[in-house]
Amino acid sequence: MRNIRNIHERLNLALSKTLKDAKQTPAPPKLAASVDYAVFPGGARVRPTLCLSVAEACGEDDYAIAESSAVALELIHCASLVHDDLPCFDDSELRRGKPTVHRAFGETVAVLAGDSLIILAFENLAKGCEKKPERLIQLIKILSKSSGVPFGICSGQGWESENEINLSAYHQLKTGSLFVAATCMGAVSAGEDPEPWVELGARIGEAFQVADDLKDVTSSEKNVGKPTGQDAKNSRPSAVNEYGVDGAINRLQDILSGAIASIPACPGEARLCDIVRKQAKQLMPSFAADRVL
Ligand code: IPE
Ligand code: IPE
Ligand code: MG
Ligand code: MG
Repeated sequence: MRNIRNIHERLNLALSKTLKDAKQTPAPPKLAASVDYAVFPGGARVRPTLCLSVAEACGEDDYAIAESSAVALELIHCASLVHDDLPCFDDSELRRGKPTVHRAFGETVAVLAGDSLIILAFENLAKGCEKKPERLIQLIKILSKSSGVPFGICSGQGWESENEINLSAYHQLKTGSLFVAATCMGAVSAGEDPEPWVELGARIGEAFQVADDLKDVTSSEKNVGKPTGQDAKNSRPSAVNEYGVDGAINRLQDILSGAIASIPACPGEARLCDIVRKQAKQLMPSFAADRVL
């Protein structure tokens, strides 16, 4: 049985192996360095951890598939951050406590780094699923749906260019979709039906975004490793704007209780409940964690 620390170690190994392949000759040196820079050192690795935890709870029978799903999720996530930080999106200087990819390598390389990570995610997934192509088809469908348009990250980011926006739908597309992919890909990696796992992913994704909005208002740049106060600066819709700090914490409580209750019956159900609680606690500002959990 794996704990979160073990999961992170295995994930980091798998990620570096995947990147090592991508950085070989004839990759241009700056682009090769930039993909590494975008993925290491990592953040909370919350989506791949969720994927591996669900696969384990479902009684996984092929670790290579679960691992390549987890790696693919993290690569798509890192790519989305590289693009999100660009001057044409949020124009951010800092990510995970260091200069953003475009600040370190220039905008052209940053656009290519994001593109390369997205493509690498799918390539790596295909390699991990060679023995079970029927699972690969399902995994590609889930990951592409959660990343693209109309149901994925591109769609969510695209809503920022519209005049009117529905906060909950925007969060679901921009952030929730990849959490739904994480739980569903965990289930499919273990040969299970993904449908019963949609609700858990959606609820964790929504809770995560509300927690992120709270941190944007209540935490310091030093604590979160990225600029805070960004939602107000960029006039972005946010849960704190809509409900206030106390309202957002109440909302978190409701979403998380629902998330735990939605976990389908499976061999590792109790342990998964525990992991979801622990992860949720790590992601919130500490004053909110004390009130919610
Ligand atoms: C940040 O995601 C972007 C959002 C979707 C709000 P994370 O907080 O998971 O970023 P890292 O990977 O831990 O840095
Ligand atoms: C980023 O959202 C989410 C993506 C899908 C890229 P935000 O812009 O709200 O997140 P941070 O604050 O930059 O991490
Ligand atoms: Mg953004
Ligand atoms: Mg941003």
